[in-house]
Amino acid sequence: MNRRGRILVTGATGRVGRQVVAQLMDAGAEVRALARDPHAARLRADIEVMRGDLTQPHTLHAPLDGVDAVFLVWPFATAEGMSAVLDVVAEHARRVVYLSSAAVRDHEQRAEQLIEQTGVEWTFLRPHVFAANALRWAAQVRAAGAVHGPYGAAAMAPIHQHDIAAVAVQALTGNGHGGAIYELTGPQTLSQSDQVRIIGEVIDRPVHWIETPAEVERQQMLELGWPGAAVDGILHAQAELVTKPGPITSTVEQATGTPARTFREWVIDHSSAFRDT
Ligand SMILES: NC(=O)c1ccc[n+]([C@@H]2O[C@H](COP(=O)([O-])OP(=O)(O)OC[C@H]3O[C@@H](n4cnc5c(N)ncnc54)[C@H](OP(=O)(O)O)[C@@H]3O)[C@@H](O)[C@H]2O)c1
Repeated sequence: MNRRGRILVTGATGRVGRQVVAQLMDAGAEVRALARDPHAARLRADIEVMRGDLTQPHTLHAPLDGVDAVFLVWPFATAEGMSAVLDVVAEHARRVVYLSSAAVRDHEQRAEQLIEQTGVEWTFLRPHVFAANALRWAAQVRAAGAVHGPYGAAAMAPIHQHDIAAVAVQALTGNGHGGAIYELTGPQTLSQSDQVRIIGEVIDRPVHWIETPAEVERQQMLELGWPGAAVDGILHAQAELVTKPGPITSTVEQATGTPARTFREWVIDHSSAFRDT
């Protein structure tokens, strides 16, 4: 760890942020976690958790007081409101590590532009698909040992949230990451049906992919309240991955010195979610 100074972790109760907090603590950094409800945050007792809401920029002054660097998760489908948040961030902090996305959708592109305009030192993390997305299959695996969905042949290199966090920790605590854009993946390209098979191998129960028409999935996602444009974007991206598998990058290993974790390792770490007992 080359740099000292307090680090504020937003999204600290989420999949990546929770790991960032834990790994920063292990590295001996001075960490503060942001949560809308600190009492519900379920973080380690020795972690300072402060209340703040990214939709209410005035709530961020206290959590940002004395902070040198910020891990920024922007969990919204629009960059609306981000400018005001970044004004507060730039008043206090000198460095921002932003969890963007390899898809660099419109709002993520806008977010990156806004961060660049603040003048703070920035690093952008652009992960491809999270291995943790497989949790959306957990109920079907537990109930029936089968996963229904379209585009079982869509292939990608899912990344463990631990590895996204490990790169974030390097960027937050080390030197030489200013202005860097890190495209992050897991180490292995796997189709969705391969991922489901691996889940079965780990829990020692056969699990199959059952191909269903994209339109069925579309209707189900809409009924769950997903916005139409987001649903179409996801299904379009999956269709493309059938003929053009997602890339593999070596960025995790380059940034951390440790190879990226495999999808199988991720399943082992989360196997209880897929077991029916
Ligand atoms: N899933 C993928 O494949 C993928 C791929 C690339 C990029 N990404 C990006 O990853 C990000 C999500 O990361 P994640 O999965 O770690 O998050 P997550 O598990 O979905 O958790 C969301 C976090 O955001 C916080 N949050 C929500 N509303 C908030 C508000 N109004 N003010 C302050 N905090 C708020 C929540 O904290 P509290 O509720 O405790 O306040 C929680 O910690 C998204 O930006 C997504 O685009 C995802």
